[in-house]
Amino acid sequence: MLDGKKVVFSGVQPSGNLTIGNYLGAIKNFSAFSEEYRCFYCVVDLHAITVRQVPAELRRRTYETLALYMACGLDPEKNTLFVQSHVPAHAELSWILNCYTMFGELSRMTQFKDKSAKHADNINAGLFTYPVLMAADILLYQTDLVPVGVDQRQHLELARDIAGRFNQAYSPTFVVPEGYMNPTAMKIASLSNPTAKMSKSDPNPNACVYILDPRDAILKKFKSAVTDSDTVVRYAPEEKPGVSNLMTIYRAFTGKSHEQIEREFEGKGYGDFKLACGEACADALAPVQSEFAKLMADKAYLEDVMKKGAEAASYAARKTLSKVKKKVGFVI
Ligand code: TRP
Repeated sequence: MLDGKKVVFSGVQPSGNLTIGNYLGAIKNFSAFSEEYRCFYCVVDLHAITVRQVPAELRRRTYETLALYMACGLDPEKNTLFVQSHVPAHAELSWILNCYTMFGELSRMTQFKDKSAKHADNINAGLFTYPVLMAADILLYQTDLVPVGVDQRQHLELARDIAGRFNQAYSPTFVVPEGYMNPTAMKIASLSNPTAKMSKSDPNPNACVYILDPRDAILKKFKSAVTDSDTVVRYAPEEKPGVSNLMTIYRAFTGKSHEQIEREFEGKGYGDFKLACGEACADALAPVQSEFAKLMADKAYLEDVMKKGAEAASYAARKTLSKVKKKVGFVI
């Protein structure tokens, strides 16, 4: 608890390539959290360098990620938005927690195994201890809830284990965090393979729509979306996964129910429906895109947000870190 509210923490990779799946499945809901919870959103640049980065691009994407989250509705007055490397407590706690994490535990992390296969020429120690830094991110703020996708579940489980172990060895120090799965969050599938999740790293360029895609690219991607040999717009996820996925997207962007959509496209073909989906998506993203452009043109403002965010985060982090230092026996 912080300021009488439960704490939500999420780390976001500095990548400007968020998809409408990220938008509809997560980010769009984040702004509603801030009424009920004390929310921290952190651009995790320390995590990013576990794989090689082009320095100028990393810097640009750090600004872009912050701007994109703000453009999607995260208000810096109501949420603490900050950059991980601006708050040294993350690296400090991470070192300490390294000494409470077992080599065997880290060896079992599936993301480490996947990433070391993918980056065989750069299996660095940071890639191995990545989950400890993530545990430090979460535990520093006495986080109650962590909105995470399935790919980060194992890391969250480890953070819970580390917290429990430390609490057990000394005395209660960390809140043991829970994962948060939004029951109403929409799952958006790939446009070219509707039984797979929409992923920003899909090699097929038509599979996913990025929040920052220009209008003509959005229309083109929807036009090429995989449907079926039928011609009826009807919601049937098992039988008609492609059409149903498009209906989910159309519903999310227009607020129309599945029944209304079925009626709207009765007697019309998939061509009309796909065009309407593309237009609804492009129309909904237009204000996000223009807000993003406005924010990116005002670096000084973004830097001010980062600075204020880092101050607020440091203040909250300091309390936990000094407790930890005292418990492990450092002279403070
Ligand atoms: N590892 C997360 C990812 O790749 C990002 C992340 C870093 C994170 N620290 C976090 C997510 C803390 C939740 C909480 O998506």
